[in-house]
Parts: sequence; C-alpha cells; structure tokens
Amino acid sequence: MKTQVAIIGGGPSGLLLAQLLHRHNIESVVLERKTKDYVLSRIRAGVLEQGLVKLMEEAGCADRLHSEGYEHDGTLLSYGDEMFRIDFTEHTGTPVIVYGQTEVTRDLYAAREKAGGLIEFNVDDVVIHGADSDAPYVTYRVDGEDRRLDCDFIAGCDGFHGVSRQTIPLDVRREYEKVYPFGWLGILSETPPVNHELIYANSPRGFALCSMRNENLSRYYIQCSLSDKPEDWTDEAFWQELKRRIPADQAARLVTGPSIEKSIAPLRSFVTEPMRWGRLFLCGDAAHIVPPTGAKGLNTAASDVHYLYHGLTDYYARGSTEGIDRYSEKALARVWKAERFSWWFSSMMHRYPDQSEFDLKMQVADLEFLRSNKAAQKAMAENYVGLPY
Ligand code: FAD
Ligand code: PHB
Repeated sequence: MKTQVAIIGGGPSGLLLAQLLHRHNIESVVLERKTKDYVLSRIRAGVLEQGLVKLMEEAGCADRLHSEGYEHDGTLLSYGDEMFRIDFTEHTGTPVIVYGQTEVTRDLYAAREKAGGLIEFNVDDVVIHGADSDAPYVTYRVDGEDRRLDCDFIAGCDGFHGVSRQTIPLDVRREYEKVYPFGWLGILSETPPVNHELIYANSPRGFALCSMRNENLSRYYIQCSLSDKPEDWTDEAFWQELKRRIPADQAARLVTGPSIEKSIAPLRSFVTEPMRWGRLFLCGDAAHIVPPTGAKGLNTAASDVHYLYHGLTDYYARGSTEGIDRYSEKALARVWKAERFSWWFSSMMHRYPDQSEFDLKMQVADLEFLRSNKAAQKAMAENYVGLPY
C-alpha cells in the first residue's frame, strides 16, 4: 500500500491529523493497535481549549461539541476552609469547553468513516523503516498477514507507550522526566455534578477534583498512593474520602451513586526532544506527558497537530519545507510552557510524602497570592484556557 502520510495511533492526535489532512486533499492511513471500542472506552480528558475547538471546526467535526459541550467561564480552587474562583472570561475573554475526549474521538471516527478514510485496527508489530531517508515505510501485521505501507511522511501519534519515539536513535533523542510520588483515582458516575464549575481542592488528606461530562454524568478524582489498585477502593470508600477533601458545603450536597468506571492514572511530566527525526514527526503523548492537573494533555496534543498539519499542507500545496522544518521547535516552545503550568499547578495542589512544614507553607502562600492577586489570576487563566498557538 502507498499513502502520503502514515499515521501511527488512532487516538485523538492521529484521528484529528488524518481528518485535517483529508480536508486539504492529503491522503493518510491510520494504524491503530486496539479496536475502536477499546479506544472509545478509555475515559480521559474532559476540558477543551479554544484552539482544539477551532481545529475540530476546521476538521468539520464540531457540531456535537457545540451543541452538547458546556462553556465554563471559570474554575474554583479550595484549600482549608477557603475557596476562590479564577474567572477565565474576565481575564482572557475566553471560556473552556467541557466535552469528553471520548466524544471528541467518537466524532473524529465518525468523520473518518464518512470520508472513507482508511483506519487499520488491531495492528501488531508496527515497525518504522527509513525515517531518515527519502523513502520511509511502515511494516505491520494485521489478521495474521504482514503488510507494508510506503509513504512520504510518518506521524507518530501512538501515545506514551508507542513505537514511534523509540525509533529515534538515542544519540539524537533527549528525554526529560519527572515522576510524581502519587496517582489519581478517578470515577465516573451517573449523578449530577456537585457544582456547575470544576473544583480543584488542596486538602490535608490530598488533592481532589470535581469535574463532569454532562448534567447527569460526573467525573471525580482523588490523589491516591501509587500502590493502590482501583479494586482496593469501594465506591463507598471513594465517596467518603472525596467528601473529606472538598469544602464542607460542597460535601453536604454531593450526590453519590454507583461508579460506572474506576481507574488509576500515575502522574508524570515528560518531554522528548526533538519531535522530528527525518520524515518522522512525533505528536501528542508520543512526545510529551503532563500531569492532568492543568487539563493540558489533549490540548497540547492538539497544538502539535496544528503545527504539523500546517507544515504538511504548506509542503503539499507550495513545496515549502519551512513548516515541517520548524515543526519541532514550534511545538516544543508551546509544550514546555504547558509542562511548566501543569507542574506548577500540580505542585501547589497535592500532598507529597516527603513534604516539610516549609513546603506546606509555600503551597498556602502560593494559593493566597493567587486568591488575592489579579495579575496572578490572569496568568493562571491565560494558561488554563490555553496559550496562543
Ligand atoms: P493516546 O490517546 O494515547 O492515543 C495513542 C493511540 O495509539 C492509542 O489509541 C493507542 O492504542 C495507539 N498505539 C499505541 N502504540 C501503538 C502501536 N505500536 N501501533 C499502533 N497504535 C498504537 N488532557 C487534557 O487536555 N485535558 C484533560 O482534562 C485531561 N484529563 C486527563 C485525565 C486522565 C485521567 C488522563 C489519563 C489523561 C488526561 N488528559 C487530559 C491527557 C489526554 O488524555 C492525553 O494527552 C491524550 O489522550 C493524548 O492523545 P494522543 O492521541 O496523543 O495519545
Ligand atoms: C476531567 O474531567 O477528566 C478532567 C478535568 C480537568 C482536569 C483533569 C481531568 O484538570
């Protein structure tokens, strides 16, 4: 088989790139290791920046997002008995949209299917060949058969555990990592959200987050130990713990119910440089990870897609290589800022096992400064709604 762009990974990065390229008459084939149902069963991001919304519009996939997503003009932060609000629209003129990653992915799959785009599911043994040559290709196995896909370019959109990043030789690739000594235990429940805006809570018992998908679907997280397993936590234990971490008035009106999903995510900050090697481009979680505290993971994947798709469309329309040549530099400049914000917000909101009294005082000082200082609130709001592309 031959295509223009071979896309490894059928998560949000790979699908969005495929659909945007298609709108510019650039052909691609997506290779996904799992089934579509499996990809759609992963409950992940819930907060979209305007940049991603615009890309979904350009992709022709934003109708449901506009009719079913919720605009949020601010978010709440709590610590001790204090709670304050960061007003996004006051400080930036821009809201964020609450719309699940699962739904973004579902809309993109629907668009790819309608356009007749080729997505190979259940592929195994994906290997990238000749990424540093003028004739790259990808080999893989599907239904017990070996296949080869020749292409002009390869987009590595295969997440943190994919093969694309590993293809870049170690003498070229540099990795930066910080692993946090805790995880997030998340549940989804068919209950009304406790509050109409998200609540990020710093409590002596650890971090908690109250989020949502719609008026009868709530998403809650609590900081947990890395050794915990989801099955260690009964629903009852989860609700009790959540109530102890959020302000008392919120806890009093929290509606609980059975969980329909429960999972644990470890927290990590990770960046790989460069994001391009020859004709291979890394996109999204394949190149970088942020702790979910700032809601930046999917959104940063989207800004990578933006830079890459513009680079590729300029190449095919005008023969210009400037966009693809500068892809890594442009994407990384924005990635590092998202890394900084997510690291800062995580550091301010979680309990660390080795935290000293001094460290605790610093967290409170950081929160009090934010609560009382408009300039700090504006900086937080600008980062949360997403820095410009
Ligand atoms: P992925 O979603 O990981 O997709 C990669 C795809 O590649 C997968 O489908 C995988 O099966 C496939 N694949 C892997 N290896 C191979 C291979 N060898 N061959 C073929 N296919 C392969 N981000 C936000 O912006 N906002 C949030 O509110 C937010 N909340 C989050 C909450 C949690 C609990 C978690 C875990 C993450 C959250 N994120 C959030 C992060 C966000 O989910 C990720 O950044 C996003 O999924 C990245 O998309 P991606 O397409 O780059 O990678
Ligand atoms: C979510 O709803 O899953 C969510 C929201 C905000 C975050 C992280 C996750 O910061």
